[in-house]
Amino acid sequence: MVQLSLPRNSKISKSGRVFAAPEDADEIRRFKIYRYNPDLDENPHMDVYHVDRAQCGPMVLDALIKIKDEIDSTLTFRRSCREGICGSCAMNINGVNGLACLQPIDAQKGTITIYPLPHCDVVKDLVPDLSQFYAHYQQIEPWLQTAPPAEGEHLQSIEDRAKLDGLYECILCACCSTSCPSYWWNGARYLGPAALLQAHRWLMDSRETDIGERLDQLEDPFRLYRCHTIMNCAKSCPKRLNPAKAIAEIKQMMVARRT
Ligand code: SF4
Ligand code: SF4
Ligand code: FES
Repeated sequence: MVQLSLPRNSKISKSGRVFAAPEDADEIRRFKIYRYNPDLDENPHMDVYHVDRAQCGPMVLDALIKIKDEIDSTLTFRRSCREGICGSCAMNINGVNGLACLQPIDAQKGTITIYPLPHCDVVKDLVPDLSQFYAHYQQIEPWLQTAPPAEGEHLQSIEDRAKLDGLYECILCACCSTSCPSYWWNGARYLGPAALLQAHRWLMDSRETDIGERLDQLEDPFRLYRCHTIMNCAKSCPKRLNPAKAIAEIKQMMVARRT
């Protein structure tokens, strides 16, 4: 059996602070949140916050904003749209990757425990370092490539446009890639489910003329073929997309061009 151990400076080493609920709180919810500050020479710890649910919006992101505004302004997390569109509030909530703005507080029982997305370096608190994730996205060249370049509007039939459904909706939140065991172990070389779903989006575009070159770029033992159909990616996608299916379809395209 593989023996795994965390680097010493990533272990949660001490108990954190506990912030009590206001005395007049009607409905208290308890949040246990991962804290890490790179400016302090300290290991991460978990802080506990009590929030009056009756005075808070319905989503986990509402609670985080309330904590930051009213209890502890040092808590750091990313967010922008609060509508499930920007993908920036992705985090691990009670053991499952998801978007804090789409996760109702009331859907979680007991203490809500929040960590940053797994298997990433942490910039601060709930902010993961997604440099590698974006580098993989850049590698698949996520733009339309046509030769010769199209002049004017580049039209597509309704049927061809429909082939992009289930692919174009990806918001690059990284919930799938950071839940993929194969990406954890081979992240330096395996592109991961998000980048591969995006690669499939361009491979399926009827206006694209460089399909062969795109497939050549993916024909590599690591970039594409490290997917072992574990399906964590599809389970964790907040947009209900299926990266594993997209990866399987790319593999089929590889086979089809050889025959
Ligand atoms: S199906 Fe493939 S990409 Fe998805 S989690 Fe499993 S190994 Fe990763
Ligand atoms: S496929 Fe889903 S989980 Fe993965 S990055 Fe796109 S939206 Fe996020
Ligand atoms: S804040 Fe934009 S997806 Fe959650």
